[in-house]
Amino acid sequence: MHFSRRVPSDLAPNRFALALAGARKSARRLIDLTVSNPTQVGLGYPHDLLAPLADAAALVYDPQPFGLRVAREAVSEDFARKGVHVPADRVVLTASTSEAYSILFKLLCDPGDRVLVPRPSYPLFEHLTRLDDVEAEGYRLEYHGRWSVDVDSVRSAISARTRAILAVSPNNPTGSFLDGPDLAALAAICAEHDLALIGDEVFADFPLPDRVPVRAGQADIVRQRGRQGGHEAAETLLPRPPGVLSSQQILAFSLGGLSKSVGLPQLKLGWVGVGGPDDLVGPALGRLEVICDSYLSVGTPVQQAAGALMTSGVAVRARILARISENYETLVHLTRRYPSCTLLAAEGGWYAVVQVPATASEEDLVVTLLEEDAVVVYPGYFFDFPREAFLIVSLLPVPDEFRTGITRMLERAASPVHGD
Ligand SMILES: Cc1ncc(COP(=O)(O)O)c(C=O)c1O
Repeated sequence: MHFSRRVPSDLAPNRFALALAGARKSARRLIDLTVSNPTQVGLGYPHDLLAPLADAAALVYDPQPFGLRVAREAVSEDFARKGVHVPADRVVLTASTSEAYSILFKLLCDPGDRVLVPRPSYPLFEHLTRLDDVEAEGYRLEYHGRWSVDVDSVRSAISARTRAILAVSPNNPTGSFLDGPDLAALAAICAEHDLALIGDEVFADFPLPDRVPVRAGQADIVRQRGRQGGHEAAETLLPRPPGVLSSQQILAFSLGGLSKSVGLPQLKLGWVGVGGPDDLVGPALGRLEVICDSYLSVGTPVQQAAGALMTSGVAVRARILARISENYETLVHLTRRYPSCTLLAAEGGWYAVVQVPATASEEDLVVTLLEEDAVVVYPGYFFDFPREAFLIVSLLPVPDEFRTGITRMLERAASPVHGD
C-alpha cells in the first residue's frame, strides 16, 4: 500500500517516549513539568463557564465559510481589547491554531514551497508544514540576556520558493516577544520579497509581570470586566509589544484562539485576523473563503457563545497568569541556588528554559530525570536549540509540585555526572 510522504513512515517511539511510557507504568507518581493542558492543573474553572454553549440560538445551523458574524465580531472586539483594529470582515474562524496554519499554507504555498520558522520554537511546525507538503526552513533566535531575531539568518534562509515568515510571540518555548525592531525588520523583509507574515500570538495574553521591557507607546494599561463565580472581576492588561497586524504595509495574519486566551482548548475555536493593504487582503480573503467553505469545521454552539466566553473567560485568564507568574518567580529563586544552571529570561507564555551543564547529553539527562527522579521535562533538542544542554519546563503545574519537580531537576542537572 502506498502512504503519503506527508506522514512519516517511521512511527516508532523515541527513547524519551519509551522511558515516559515506562515511568507511567511504575508505582512512583510522576511530576509532569511538561503539562500544557490548562484544564488539568487545578486552576478551578468557574463551574458555570460553559453555560453559554446551551444557548438556543445554536439550534439553527447557518453554514458560513469564515464563521458566524456574531463570533467574528466578538473576535474583532477581543483584538480591540489589545489595542489592535481588526474589523469583523477580516476575521476568519478555525477550529484551532493548527488548522489556521493549514489554511494559510494552502492559501500561500504550492507543494514544495517554503516557509521560514523560528528556531528554537514550537516542534509541531515540522508536522504542520509536512502535512501540507510545505518545507520549513529555520531562522535563528539568539539569546544575549534576552532573545532577538538574527535578521541575517532570515535573509540568508530566503529562496525563490519562500512564501511566508512565521513568528511566534511570545514564542514557545523561549518566552520571547517579537519586539518592535524585530517586527519592523521582518516586515521590511516580507515587503522586499513579497512574503506574508504569519504571527502566532496565541500566548500574547500572558506577558509575565515586570518581565517585558517596556517601550514608549506600549505601556497602555487597559481594564476589562469578566465574571468570576458570579462576581465581576476586573482584568488589567499588562504592557506588551505590538503584534504582527501593526505592520500595515504587508499581508499579515495574527493567530489566536480560546485554547490559550481563556484556557479552553476543548472548545476548538481559533481565529485568524488578517491585516494589510486592501489590494492584498481582498484576494487573500477571496481564496481563503474557498478553502474554509470546503471544511466548515467550526461548530455552531461555540460560535454563538464566543462573546460570552471571552467575557467570563477573563477569570480563567487571570488564574493562568497568576499561576505562570508564581511559578516563574519560583524558578528564578530556585535557579539562583545552582550556579551551574541558568534560567533564560522569559517575557511571557507558558514555558521557561533552563540552561544546564552539558556533562551528559540532554537525552540522557531527561531519561535519568524520568527514571530516577520521577520528573518529566523536555530536552532542548525537541525545540531545535542549536546546541546542548537546555531543559524546557511548563509554568502551568500546581505550585507545590512545580517547586518539588524543579528542585529535583536542578539537583540532578547540577550533579557532576547526571546518571549518579
Ligand atoms: C505556539 C503555539 N501555537 C499554537 C498552539 C496550539 O493552539 P491550538 O490549541 O489553538 O491549536 C500551541 C499549543 O501549545 C502553541 O504552543
